Amino acid sequence: MTRRHSSSLLETKKSCAGSATSREEVRRRRPSSLAGSTAGNENGVGQFIVELERNLIGRVGLIVWDRRTWETSAYDLAAEHAQEELGSALVRSAWGNGYAMEAAQAVKSWCHRDRGIERLVSLIAPDNLRSQRVAEKLGARLEERIQTTVGPTDVWAYHR
Ligand SMILES: CC(C)(COP(=O)(O)OP(=O)(O)OC[C@H]1O[C@@H](n2cnc3c(N)ncnc32)[C@H](O)[C@@H]1OP(=O)(O)O)[C@@H](O)C(=O)NCCC(=O)NCCS
Repeated sequence: MTRRHSSSLLETKKSCAGSATSREEVRRRRPSSLAGSTAGNENGVGQFIVELERNLIGRVGLIVWDRRTWETSAYDLAAEHAQEELGSALVRSAWGNGYAMEAAQAVKSWCHRDRGIERLVSLIAPDNLRSQRVAEKLGARLEERIQTTVGPTDVWAYHR
């Protein structure tokens, strides 16, 4: 798995024995820790690893964009045009269990509480219905359609 911005660690360690098989079970099992260092990343933000019972199942975290160009950037370059994006990706076998929702919610809370970030967005391809649903469930609203290097992309905005 690519860890381009990885510098932090999210451990969604599960305290119960056995494997999580139902959404209800996942909801009962809260992530037990959110920890890690942001050292080494010029933006001070990055990707958290999502673990399920010590197995890596994906990543969730932040990328900084420049709103003028909608290219990835850094705080010192984008200055007041900097926009943090909350994004996630899980291995295919882990989809459909609510893990993305759980992990993204944890990082979203961390952003607001510990990083003082007021406004987050998710940049989602118009045909990526799963991601749209996760964003919607976290309270995001579709704001605009932009062009990025990968084509038309919807900006879903979360407000605190
Ligand atoms: C996006 C991603 C992390 C979501 O993971 P996930 O485990 O499927 O997410 P969840 O199970 O938490 O939620 C998915 C939601 O989408 C819904 N969904 C699934 N397929 C759907 C479809 N075809 N149309 C509409 N909704 C759909 C599910 O029902 C669920 O909503 P619900 O809880 O209300 O039922 C995962 O699909 C992934 O890694 N995709 C590839 C990378 C990616 O696209 N990342 C985002 C880039 S912007």
